[in-house]
This record gives sequence, structure tokens and C-alpha cells, in this order.
Amino acid sequence: MTTIQNIEIKLGMEGLTPGKIVTLYRRAPLLRAVDTPERVWKKFEASSVVISAWYGEQLAGVARALTDGVSESYLCELAVEPDVQGSGIGKRLLDEVFEQCRGTELLLRHSNISSRYYVKLGFRQVDNAWTLKLK
Ligand SMILES: CC(C)(COP(=O)(O)OP(=O)(O)OC[C@H]1O[C@@H](n2cnc3c(N)ncnc32)[C@H](O)[C@@H]1OP(=O)(O)O)[C@@H](O)C(=O)NCCC(=O)NCCS
Repeated sequence: MTTIQNIEIKLGMEGLTPGKIVTLYRRAPLLRAVDTPERVWKKFEASSVVISAWYGEQLAGVARALTDGVSESYLCELAVEPDVQGSGIGKRLLDEVFEQCRGTELLLRHSNISSRYYVKLGFRQVDNAWTLKLK
């Protein structure tokens, strides 16, 4: 049985592959288009913080963040395997992100199904964020 006690949290890319990440994103599911494995891997390589959760060889969840280490951080594409959602893995991944980004303000974009989750974890909705999609 998978319990939070036998989940291992890793910092960095160890054990991750493009295929494992894309499979997790599709299964979770992330409510946005999932990039090709090549593009997903490029995003992981460029991230300042990569955290993964494992039960044995099985990938249970991932979180990554971009941070300047001083004032600003951005949380990207948190996802947990559906079979083990609700068992505290998302919270463990985020606790590690908080640790790695401490002292900064952490921003994120939520999906409709996850907005209440972030409220629960203490995030506050802001009305001064702007976005521009670049070509
Ligand atoms: C959202 C997600 C990452 C949460 O991870 P998780 O491991 O299932 O969550 P946790 O077990 O750490 O939950 C911690 C607490 O938040 C609650 N919670 C979990 N998902 C929630 C949701 N969608 N809305 C409100 N509360 C939620 C849990 O019940 C738990 O409460 P408790 O401490 O009182 O028991 C996961 O459900 C997921 O991958 N969802 C699909 C992908 C997604 O939406 N990602 C976010 C994109 S921005």
C-alpha cells in the first residue's frame, strides 16, 4: 500500500525521464495542453527547482519552480498520480518548493480544479498580475 511514509522526495532530475513526466501530466490530469516529451524535458532542464515524489521506482508526483532566489518565484505544473492524490504528496512537494524558494514571493497559475487547493495551502489571490503570450 502507498502511504505518505513510504514516499521518497527527491530534489533534482534523478530518475526522471521525459516519458514518465508526460505520462504523469496526462494521468493527473493537468488541465492544459501537455507539451511533447522533448519540450517538457527542456522545461525541466531550465527550471531552478525540480522536486519529485516516488514510491519505489514509480513516479508519484512532480513540482518545479523558477526562482531568482531573492524576491520572485514561479510554481509550474504541480501534478500527482491520480491513484495517490489526497494522501499528502502534493503538500510534501510544495513544502520542498517552499524551502527551496524561501524568502521569495511564489506566484502560480491555477486550473479550475485546483484553485481551492491553493487557498487551503494559504495562497492569496491577487488582482495585479498581468500576462502576455510571446511568439
Ligand atoms: C492538485 C494536486 C496537485 C493536489 O495534490 P494531492 O497530493 O492530491 O494533495 P494533498 O494530498 O497534498 O492535499 C493536501 C490537502 O489539500 C486538500 N486538497 C487536495 N486537492 C484539493 C483540491 N483540488 N481542492 C481543495 N482541496 C484539495 C486535501 O484534501 C488535503 O486536505 P487535508 O490536509 O485537510 O487532508 C493533485 O490533486 C493533482 O495533481 N491534481 C491534478 C493536476 C492539477 O490540478 N494540478 C495543479 C495545476 S495548477
